[in-house]
Amino acid sequence: MNLKVFATYKLPGNPGALFGKEGISFSENLLPRLLRTEELIEQAAEADGIISLLGDKIDADVINKLKKCRVIANYAVGFNNIDLNAARERGITVTNTPDVLSAATAEIAFLLILAAARNLNAGEKMMRNKVFLGWSPELLLGYGLEGKTLGLVGAGRIAQKVAKMALGFGMNIIYFSRSVKPEMPGRFVPLSELMATSDVISLHIPLDETTNNLISADLLDLMKPSAIFVNTARGEVADEKHLIALLKKRKIYAAGLDVYTNEPNFNHALTTLDNVVLLPHIGSATFETRTAMAHLAANNVISVLKGGEPITPVAS
Ligand code: GLV
Ligand code: GLV
Repeated sequence: MNLKVFATYKLPGNPGALFGKEGISFSENLLPRLLRTEELIEQAAEADGIISLLGDKIDADVINKLKKCRVIANYAVGFNNIDLNAARERGITVTNTPDVLSAATAEIAFLLILAAARNLNAGEKMMRNKVFLGWSPELLLGYGLEGKTLGLVGAGRIAQKVAKMALGFGMNIIYFSRSVKPEMPGRFVPLSELMATSDVISLHIPLDETTNNLISADLLDLMKPSAIFVNTARGEVADEKHLIALLKKRKIYAAGLDVYTNEPNFNHALTTLDNVVLLPHIGSATFETRTAMAHLAANNVISVLKGGEPITPVAS
């Protein structure tokens, strides 16, 4: 019987070739947008395997309408868009794309740290508006990183890469995570201590029931006036409204954000603030990584459909 795989969006790296070699037929949504739920169900209903994006809401309703699906390969490391319980009940394996995107995402975290610390946004704007009046002693002063404390929330692969980069910049590292990680450089501290004592705070935790709004208003209030807050994980893990209020009142120095609550909508108040650097969720967006993610997703699907073990199943 001919196996069918459907990808909800066109992916780089020609994953179709991998399926072709295995005699698996492959189709993909060619529209330059996410599918609406009804469209997704219609196009995926008969597929044996599905490659989904983090913007596809694969809830119990969708999962129960998939007739033959045995594997859903999320084209992301995060999988908060998929109802894992519903998948488990239907015997569907769920996989993600860890490791291949850790360096790319850590690089974006560091880009945001540097950009927020050194006023990249304001400086760029000045040049584009042609209002550069010449070198001056106090033009766009920011904060240096050397000798400062970086507080990492999370101690997974991405956090570990950010930590290594930070060591190169001469930063001290503290971290908070569910458990002490011996492979993580730096000292484990309680979350409140991390928020209160870090010069730079960077989030590297997945979104789930235990981390939704983990970085609450109360915790955000502990930050130093000179603190820099960076989020490349998921918007929902921090109280975004409160963060905006703190930035507006200049209760912290700056923020760098790659992720937002309720994407792709985002709070437009952010665009009025000059002490925040904004990116459109591009943590893993390198040519190398997005191709590697497509191949890993495809190989996960192939492995499961051929009766083998998934390469990178999600922990559930
Ligand atoms: C991107 O945010 C991902 O989860 O891979
Ligand atoms: C992501 O893969 C992480 O573990 O940080």
